[in-house]
Amino acid sequence: MKGHVLLVGGSSSIAGALLDQLRLMSDLKITVLSRSGEIDTGNGNIQSFAYDPSGESMDNLPSIDALDGLMYFPGTINLKPFHRFTIEDFEKDWKINFLGAVNIIQKYLPALKKAEQASIVLVSTVAVHTGMPYHTSISAAKGAVEGFTKALAAELAPRIRVNAIAPSMTRTNLSAKFLTSPEKESASAKRHPLGRVGEPEDIAHAAKFLLSPESSWITGQIIHVDGGMSNLKLL
Ligand SMILES: NC(=O)c1ccc[n+]([C@@H]2O[C@H](COP(=O)([O-])OP(=O)(O)OC[C@H]3O[C@@H](n4cnc5c(N)ncnc54)[C@H](OP(=O)(O)O)[C@@H]3O)[C@@H](O)[C@H]2O)c1
Repeated sequence: MKGHVLLVGGSSSIAGALLDQLRLMSDLKITVLSRSGEIDTGNGNIQSFAYDPSGESMDNLPSIDALDGLMYFPGTINLKPFHRFTIEDFEKDWKINFLGAVNIIQKYLPALKKAEQASIVLVSTVAVHTGMPYHTSISAAKGAVEGFTKALAAELAPRIRVNAIAPSMTRTNLSAKFLTSPEKESASAKRHPLGRVGEPEDIAHAAKFLLSPESSWITGQIIHVDGGMSNLKLL
């Protein structure tokens, strides 16, 4: 993989795992945005900037001439019974998970159009395909991400591909509150046909593939990286 890739939400555990894979590619320039701006840039190919996708200002975003890949990680897992959600909760999840991606893609669309073939990768959740209690807000926000992915893929073909990854429970900072004991971890593992929760690397491998030319005939897809959760039911 070569060219220039932009990772938004770079302190995400999954973004960290992806960065570990991408930083080995000497022909790839990587720009990382995160709220803190504090990313281990490690070598000369990585540059890091502070940016808050839930904030109002886009003034500090770096200008990029041509962009071959863009991945947007920021998201939430805000779970509770529907009657306890406020409109503000829904708005917050909508803003971080969906509108933040819209803003960034609009900002960098001219740069993406300059690449010979570019790839945009977004992140959904298994809970869009499979209804789950307490997920109304996140499912609505990520459902928007999935619809947006398909519509934008149709609009930007053939020069720019757009896909999303829909993970199930993956061991990250965001999900740590659900995996606080061996019992909880084991219960979560048993809900997955492949018998374990996901690791950041599981999602990062799919992300790397979707960003790379190896997936050059794939667009408008929601890739379920979920231990079989969305599609299988064990007897
Ligand atoms: N872990 C799972 O089980 C799971 C399952 C399904 C989907 N996902 C999705 O995977 C993506 C990556 O998350 P992760 O699991 O890797 O968790 P993580 O390591 O905790 O990363 C969370 C990401 O969300 C951003 N973020 C969190 N709260 C924010 C806020 N209030 N305002 C702006 N940005 C905020 C962080 O931005 P900074 O980099 O700026 O700090 C970071 O990029 C998310 O879209 C999440 O919804 C995760």
